[in-house]
Amino acid sequence: MSLPLRHVLRLCVIALDLSTPVLAASTGAWSSRSVYQTMTDRFARTDGSTTHPCNTTDGLYCGGTWRGMINHLDYIEGMGFDAVMISPIVKNIEGRVSYGEAYHGYWPQDLYALNPRFGTQQDLLDLSQALHDRGMYLMMDTVINNMAYFTNGTDPSSSSSIDYAIFNPFNDPKYFHPYCQITDYNNYPLAQSCWTGDDIVALPDLKTEDPTVQAMLSHWVQEIMTNYSIDGLRLDAAKHVTPDFLPQFQKAALDSFVTGEVFDQSVDTICSYQNDLTSVPNYPIYYALLDAFTKGNTSTLPNRVEIMKHTCPNVTTLTSFSENHDVARFASLEPDINLAKNLLTFTLLSDGIPMIYQGQEQHLSGPYDPLNREALWLTTYNTTSPLYTHISTLNALRKHASQVDPNYLSTQTYPIYTGSSEMGFRKGREGRQVVMVLSTQGSASGAYTIRMTNGYEPSFVVMDVFTCRNYTVNDMGELRLDMDGGEPRVLYPPKQHIVAALNNA
Ligand SMILES: *[C@@H]1O[C@H](CO)[C@@H](O)[C@H](O)[C@H]1NC(C)=O
Ligand SMILES: *[C@@H]1O[C@H](CO)[C@@H](O)[C@H](O)[C@H]1NC(C)=O
Ligand SMILES: *[C@@H]1O[C@H](CO)[C@@H](O)[C@H](O)[C@H]1NC(C)=O
Ligand SMILES: *[C@@H]1O[C@H](CO)[C@@H](O)[C@H](O)[C@H]1NC(C)=O
Ligand SMILES: *[C@@H]1O[C@H](CO)[C@@H](O)[C@H](O)[C@H]1NC(C)=O
Ligand SMILES: *[C@@H]1O[C@H](CO)[C@@H](O)[C@H](O)[C@H]1NC(C)=O
Ligand SMILES: *[C@@H]1O[C@H](CO)[C@@H](O)[C@H](O)[C@H]1NC(C)=O
Repeated sequence: MSLPLRHVLRLCVIALDLSTPVLAASTGAWSSRSVYQTMTDRFARTDGSTTHPCNTTDGLYCGGTWRGMINHLDYIEGMGFDAVMISPIVKNIEGRVSYGEAYHGYWPQDLYALNPRFGTQQDLLDLSQALHDRGMYLMMDTVINNMAYFTNGTDPSSSSSIDYAIFNPFNDPKYFHPYCQITDYNNYPLAQSCWTGDDIVALPDLKTEDPTVQAMLSHWVQEIMTNYSIDGLRLDAAKHVTPDFLPQFQKAALDSFVTGEVFDQSVDTICSYQNDLTSVPNYPIYYALLDAFTKGNTSTLPNRVEIMKHTCPNVTTLTSFSENHDVARFASLEPDINLAKNLLTFTLLSDGIPMIYQGQEQHLSGPYDPLNREALWLTTYNTTSPLYTHISTLNALRKHASQVDPNYLSTQTYPIYTGSSEMGFRKGREGRQVVMVLSTQGSASGAYTIRMTNGYEPSFVVMDVFTCRNYTVNDMGELRLDMDGGEPRVLYPPKQHIVAALNNA
């Protein structure tokens, strides 16, 4: 697979070997991947138009397709991503309610038919093939907690309000929990046995504890992944699925990588889910990132990094994110571009499998669902925008560091410096470590120097991969690092030093 040379050259590290064979889609194989999360309806249109309007407020289909995506894979690969997540692919309910249509894919009706709005079976097969031809993985977003039905104002508790016969294969009430409302989303048993949704779009809740339902879902996932050569899954609303079923479901999903959405900032909750699924999106770190880069708090993030490491079975297989389709775009909370660079630096270089949501690279600023689901084509897919090039540098460095040291990605990040507005983190073993120094000051910040005394041996030389500037650690083991404009720094040994370290190993 090839990255556009332009971006590789931006990285001062010399002679990157970026060829990566497709192995298998186990968690181990996924751990070196970097995922770009798309929303199919909002990523690219078949006609390639970049002016076609998309009204995010009214929540209607805007016309993105699998075919359109095939035509824009260069854009994704150009940032150094080697996996793409797509919206749920199955047929959703058709029709419009006050808050829109099923453009997001989370309102399933027929698990054995594709969503015709996104294209044909051949289009999806071609997308899968096009990704694999580039050595990239295909991740499918997946809904197994519920089906969907437009009650459009009718109370879903009345037994006649849902026509179960429209669902495939769950065409009978016997597959579902009787209606009950989730009155407290922090009550997990209640959240697992009652219904999400509301009285406009009811989401009849599958009995995922029932062996018949389990067998049907297992059979389905195995088939659909095989049919379209899908390499891994995001599992939507995993919090609402019977936890006992999760390991069984992952096994049925060809034992591939599954990251299951548990929308909760509790470290204990998130880490305990790792006993059922190998991965969950890292919400505790997400909230700590907001503390750092919207409030300037430099203690929450380093502390949480340490707590997670000691609580989770394996932080390096969690998914690391700072935006997704359910949360406010960072730019809506904090518009400063350099704070966005710091945020992305941590997201891509800390522990875990990074997952970057489409549009983050264009600094989009939708403040909440549905406004955070902007049509990407309206940005004209600008490959020279500041965050696009920032991401490509970080992905290239992450890949390079993991090729220089095969254990790089499974070593854990730890904090090495905390200032009143800086946070330093190190990952990787001595001589080949990546050190990031993040600033919470923003672009208005002036130039100043910090003194780091942790992390390096005397006379060691490191290069900041953004400025290509070299720094030599002094005899006292102190690194005097120049900060400016609130820009992040990412330090890595220049090539000679890596070679020397390898020779000595
Ligand atoms: C975490 O998972 C990765 C990927 O499967 C593996 O290489 C590593 O050894 C695991 N680490 C621990 C501490 O189990
Ligand atoms: C989007 O749709 C909403 C609701 O239909 C409407 O009120 C609004 O004016 C539309 N916005 C644009 C920019 O067309
Ligand atoms: C829901 O009700 C509204 C208002 O009566 C109507 O316009 C719309 O078509 C209905 N949608 C469905 C899916 O029945
Ligand atoms: C997978 O493909 C087979 C053969 O075409 C088909 O019978 C089956 O319904 C498909 N399964 C799914 C889940 O799409
Ligand atoms: C930072 O957040 C922590 C909680 O994580 C809090 O205890 C501390 O007071 C905050 N520090 C500042 C300077 O606000
Ligand atoms: C792309 O982004 C760059 C950097 O922000 C800007 O200079 C350029 O005008 C943009 N190109 C287009 C076509 O908008
Ligand atoms: C930093 O050091 C490397 C390796 O010695 C060298 O190739 C590079 O040119 C240096 N960078 C600058 C800006 O001098």
